[in-house]
Amino acid sequence: MMIYQGKDYKDLSEKAAEIIAAEVFMKPDAVLGLATGSTPIGVYEELVKLYNMGRIDFSKVTSVNLDEYKGLSPENEQSYRYFMNHYLFDHVNIDKSRTYVPNGLEEDSQKACDEYNQLIESVGGIDLQVLGLGGNGHIGFNEPGDVFDKVTHCVKLTESTIEANARFFNSKEEVPTEAYSMGIQNIMSAKKILLIATGERKAEALYQALYGPISPKVPASILQLHNQLAVFADPEALSVIKEKGLL
Ligand code: GLP
Repeated sequence: MMIYQGKDYKDLSEKAAEIIAAEVFMKPDAVLGLATGSTPIGVYEELVKLYNMGRIDFSKVTSVNLDEYKGLSPENEQSYRYFMNHYLFDHVNIDKSRTYVPNGLEEDSQKACDEYNQLIESVGGIDLQVLGLGGNGHIGFNEPGDVFDKVTHCVKLTESTIEANARFFNSKEEVPTEAYSMGIQNIMSAKKILLIATGERKAEALYQALYGPISPKVPASILQLHNQLAVFADPEALSVIKEKGLL
């Protein structure tokens, strides 16, 4: 595991974007696993800057996103498809027909999840997966539980996640209660993983994820078993790890 201690959010976003640009430079037809949430917004902004400087070419890139709310259409501003278009895809030369997000409008959960698993396989798996971190240690929408969910599945969101994500909606009642999310096996099969965490709100979860017991109670703790994990965090997110003298 490599931990990059960013000076601040901008610094770590720049560095993470450079890693992604390097990946695409080395493998122009890379499959990028992308994440939503507020954390990676800075990385996407930096990627757009690098694109405008001619330092990254997305023309052959494929992307697969981690998750999508069940029931939200791509046009819904809170959908993760909308988010990706807004922050990244609309501003770079990626072929949108090769950008994939689980189909939130598919009511048949089994069908939506099976199709997504097949899709990930058909694109040859993920070369580089970007991850944010939930305050309760979730990755994608893999919520704490008794088992690690392997592949794409329909998730019942926990109360704490609904509350945390309510800030993006008009009210808590508007937050969908279910989502389709890649599973732990999909994520762990990625060749490289880039975990980004910022702010004190994530400090305990980041400590548990990187140094706690490996347990489905903290889904991100499984990342300790990945041999190409790079963590990009700011001083606030690293505060508990530092307090414990681990860094
Ligand atoms: C959501 C997403 C996760 C994300 C998490 C943290 O639940 N499904 O992929 O990592 O929120 O969000 P934020 O980065 O806004 O703190």
